[in-house]
Amino acid sequence: MKKELVFSGVQPTGNLHLGNYLGALKNFVSLQKSKNCLYCVVDLHAITTFQNPKELNSNILETTAGFLASGLDPNKSIIFNQSSVSGHAELAWILNCVCRMGWLNRMTQFKDKAGKDKEKASVGLYIYPNLMAADILLYKATHVPVGADQKQHLELSRDIAQKFNKDFNHKDFFPLPKPLIQKNISRVMSLRDGTKKMSKSEESDYSRINLKDSSDEIVKKIKKAKTDADPITENIKDYENRPEAYNLLSIYSDLSDQKIETTIKEFLGKDFSSLKAKLSEILVETISPIGKDIDKLMKDKKHLEDVLKKGKQKASIIAEENLKKIREIVGFV
Ligand code: TYM
Repeated sequence: MKKELVFSGVQPTGNLHLGNYLGALKNFVSLQKSKNCLYCVVDLHAITTFQNPKELNSNILETTAGFLASGLDPNKSIIFNQSSVSGHAELAWILNCVCRMGWLNRMTQFKDKAGKDKEKASVGLYIYPNLMAADILLYKATHVPVGADQKQHLELSRDIAQKFNKDFNHKDFFPLPKPLIQKNISRVMSLRDGTKKMSKSEESDYSRINLKDSSDEIVKKIKKAKTDADPITENIKDYENRPEAYNLLSIYSDLSDQKIETTIKEFLGKDFSSLKAKLSEILVETISPIGKDIDKLMKDKKHLEDVLKKGKQKASIIAEENLKKIREIVGFV
């Protein structure tokens, strides 16, 4: 049996939010208890859209602080930044030559991010999913914890792995990585529009809970969160047309580690103000300590740099060993 290895990444583009926490970071932390894990601050991905260099530098450290504040332990997991291990870029180039244009043309995230004027999007943004495949395959990772928005990219990584194995006649060389997507809440939605995912790039800060929000901000944002006039009803099917209501119920359920049906029973017949009050409470309890910890960790940048440096050393050993074999398979001298 192949050794299990977990890999995942988060872009250092500022403001980690509740979607990142519930969709990814929380899962990262539970996986480190039982599996070998690599968690990467994907700075090469970040620059596919222009980043102010000073801000990028600080965001790399702040994302690292976010990892630690959420409970990742550098003694259990390998924590590093992508640009510090050059094998990511090298393997991405090889995979650019394996992946087909038609495959990339189907990527919905490129379409969303490039917007109407795709001619002006960077080439990096277009081939972004190949770099993501390289991140995972460089370590021969078998499991990838992500939010539902990354599912299509994961499927592409599997296709690329399969084509590489077939083209170079090396059956099973790259394992086909499996996405690990949270069941209760795979996609945290915007607090202003329950049909859109919560995201850093959404203009209104009221659409998301940032991990660094103060308790007051959290309470205010939940108070203002969009809902509807109906009370909480029993039939889960009713919520198909109530996306904002469903989102708040899901967030509360996930934070309380209970099924949505249990939450519905808890608040049955009540209006949303009672759910919002309890939701604020549990959010403040969970998120505020993380935010405070991020601020504290950011005061000791040397420590954060040391964490990344140690992680880089450990990641490089695995990457170099795999790359040696990959270069050989491709035929490089
Ligand atoms: P990124 O930086 O956009 O997001 C980091 C993680 O947070 C999850 N996430 C969400 N989950 C639920 N609800 C939301 N509203 C929400 N918003 C974000 C994302 O699914 C992700 O798991 N391409 C990736 C980074 C990446 C990567 C990789 C991931 C690069 N290389 C290799 C896995 C493996 C991204 O942009 O994530």
